[in-house]
Parts: sequence; C-alpha cells; structure tokens
Amino acid sequence: MRVLMICLGNICRSPTAEAALRRAAHDAGRSDVVVESRGTAGWHEGKGADPRTVAHAKARGLDLSGHRARKLARADLVDFDVVYAMDEANLEDVRQLCRGDDGLLGKVSLFLGDRGVPDPWSGGPADFERVLDLCEGRALVLISGL
Ligand code: 4NP
Repeated sequence: MRVLMICLGNICRSPTAEAALRRAAHDAGRSDVVVESRGTAGWHEGKGADPRTVAHAKARGLDLSGHRARKLARADLVDFDVVYAMDEANLEDVRQLCRGDDGLLGKVSLFLGDRGVPDPWSGGPADFERVLDLCEGRALVLISGL
C-alpha cells in the first residue's frame, strides 16, 4: 500500500502527515505501508522541511531532518495507491493533474475527509502544533482503515 501526502510547498503539512502516518504504520506493524509526500508547487524543491516544522515535530519524536521537498508529477498519481491532499486548493490542483482519468481521480481525497489542514506557513507556534495534532490524530484513524 503506497500512500502519497500532498500540500502546497511540501515543507510543512505533507511532510508532517507523512511522518505521522509512517509512525502509525510502524506502531501498527504495517511494514507494507509506504508513505511519501509532494508539493503542488516546486518552489522549495530539494530543500529540507521548514525549520519550524522540523522543530515542532522533533518535540513529538518525529524526525523530519532527512526530508527533501519534491514537486508533484502526474506519474506520482499513477505510482501511488492512495493520494491525500491537505486542503481544498491542493485537492483541486491534484484533480486538474488527473485530467479526467477516473482511475486517478478515484485515488484522491482530502486527508481529513471533510476539511483542510490549515496552512501554518504565515502562522505562529500554535499553528504548527495544530498541524501536528491533526496529522497525528488522522494517521491513527487512517492506519486502521488501510
Ligand atoms: P505547506 O506550507 O504547503 O504546508 O508546505 C507552505 C510552505 C511554503 C509556502 C506556502 C505554504 N510558500 O508560500 O512558500
């Protein structure tokens, strides 16, 4: 089972969701679950995760130091089984990339199901904590259904 997390920059939300689901999978003994992440924008390609994201995640035992941002490509949508967008704008961008292919469209949904994970980029510490709360909580729900 290959799961792809997608946000805008691939330096805050989707790397956090990736790490949270990877840990949940590990804790559940699900070595078959592979998780990666991408950004719909390529602005930060090759760079590490946002230092604020890295610091807040580290405090919860999630190591994002090895993350390198990657831009989403259409081939990724073929390659992964399940694709989660962090917010509605990301979801729309991913759907555009599907170009009407029902097989691809069927893989894509919002990570939280009915709402987005708020972008913490312009926010403060509480916003980064909120991203972690949402990602860790959702990861536990998702792993039980994968
Ligand atoms: P992310 O957050 O999509 O959760 O990685 C952002 C990162 C960078 C920017 C916006 C959001 N940016 O404008 O560079």
